[in-house]
Amino acid sequence: MQSVDVPVALLGYGTVGAAVHRLLSEQGDEIERATGHRLRVVRALVRDPARERGFDAGPGVLTTDFDAVLGDRSIRLVAEVMGGVEPAGEHVLALLRSGRSVVTANKQLVARHGAELFDAASTAGAQLRFEASVCAAIPVIKVLRESLVVTNVHRVVGIVNGTTNFILSAMSEGRSYADALAEAQRFGYAEADPTDDVAGLDAAAKTAILATVAFGSRVPLEWVAVDGIEAVREEHIEAARALDMRVKLLGRATLAHGRVDVRVGPAFVDIHHPLAAVDGPFNAVMLQGDAIREITMEGPGAGGIETASAVVADLVSIVGTTGTGFLQGDPVWRQVERMPPGDLASPWYLRLEVEDRAGVLARLAQELAVEGVSVARLVQQPSNGHAVLHVVTHEAPAGRVEAALAAIRALPESRGEASALPVVSERGIEELGWA
Ligand code: NAP
Ligand code: HSE
Repeated sequence: MQSVDVPVALLGYGTVGAAVHRLLSEQGDEIERATGHRLRVVRALVRDPARERGFDAGPGVLTTDFDAVLGDRSIRLVAEVMGGVEPAGEHVLALLRSGRSVVTANKQLVARHGAELFDAASTAGAQLRFEASVCAAIPVIKVLRESLVVTNVHRVVGIVNGTTNFILSAMSEGRSYADALAEAQRFGYAEADPTDDVAGLDAAAKTAILATVAFGSRVPLEWVAVDGIEAVREEHIEAARALDMRVKLLGRATLAHGRVDVRVGPAFVDIHHPLAAVDGPFNAVMLQGDAIREITMEGPGAGGIETASAVVADLVSIVGTTGTGFLQGDPVWRQVERMPPGDLASPWYLRLEVEDRAGVLARLAQELAVEGVSVARLVQQPSNGHAVLHVVTHEAPAGRVEAALAAIRALPESRGEASALPVVSERGIEELGWA
């Protein structure tokens, strides 16, 4: 087979960009065997060409001038691995409008501007692919769009941020939050501003993209209810362990009766659940649908070479499908409504701190009963002269649990901040025991 050279440009040459170049160079023979094409990096946009790079870009490749990419008509294929919404967004839009196909690892860009970008791509007959924007090396976008096209996926639950999973895993081994975050930054897992990771914003963008692709309907980022891991304390991690559970930052998307709920937040995950064993910078996504019941995919969720593998796979897919019309369009094809945030039901772990005297437990039970929240398990421990109650509830809507907590916080006997985390378990609630 005659090999065809394909000039490729990179927007960004940092942790991921340099790894993309490394893979295209070192795996060039394999790519050529599979596609008949040799992808060569001819330009890479950066801010500071003098900076040391993880893989040498080669002479004349680094540039600070975007027009050197846009104006070079030999470049038909571009990977955006610079991050940030602007100027990455305007660059990608200009490239798509000029007919270039683009691969991006940028979840904030896809979550915020996916509609506009897909519109530009389809008008110009170009492709936009974004596998690396969600869960790095796990090919979940491809699986949702190709393999599960007739499956009617109605629930997605995932650990979609490597940095926070790394931090929570380290904390459960007794390490400090600050140490673990610094190490995640050193390994290159964290975003340029790690607030995006720990505040749940990175996971929110990924969960919005997953929901959009899984449900075939645009799920705007503003619909995602977001909590990060800042409020997770050592006490939560210990209580989870005592309950045979783990604390994980989960992205969850549910489609029920034509309405969508999407949220990111820390949760108590039962030890028997597939997501409980996912540790370190690993990610995992569980998909539930009519024909498949359940599929879970696990793999590296962050890191240069891991993310680059998905970027390169998308570049190869474009080379292999250009002109065929196969999977080139926007994955969105219908509209669904947002579910009111308080309606989604689950079991809950409640941590309540109260005065330790007769009648207090009855008052707590009364406030829970007013909201229809039923207690499944309860353990009381003494703490600083007070009583700490660890409660696992039966399934209850989030809004009713929040209302019961507000009433409990207002009780004169209340001490400390009453808090709630959802429980994620495949076991019946009555089987959940204390270790
Ligand atoms: P990075 O190491 O900070 O690299 C960013 C690159 O983009 C750098 O080369 C930087 O240039 C260049 N750049 C940034 N802003 C620019 C601007 N305004 N003009 C020109 N060049 C600019 O980031 P990364 O970790 O590779 O991440 C890149 C993208 O991949 C992000 O969207 C991120 O969310 C996504 N991603 C990362 C991972 C991961 O584990 N790292 C995983 C999945 C997805 P200089 O080198 O000159 O500063
Ligand atoms: N900062 C992200 C994470 C990189 O920790 O998961 C992958 O998108």
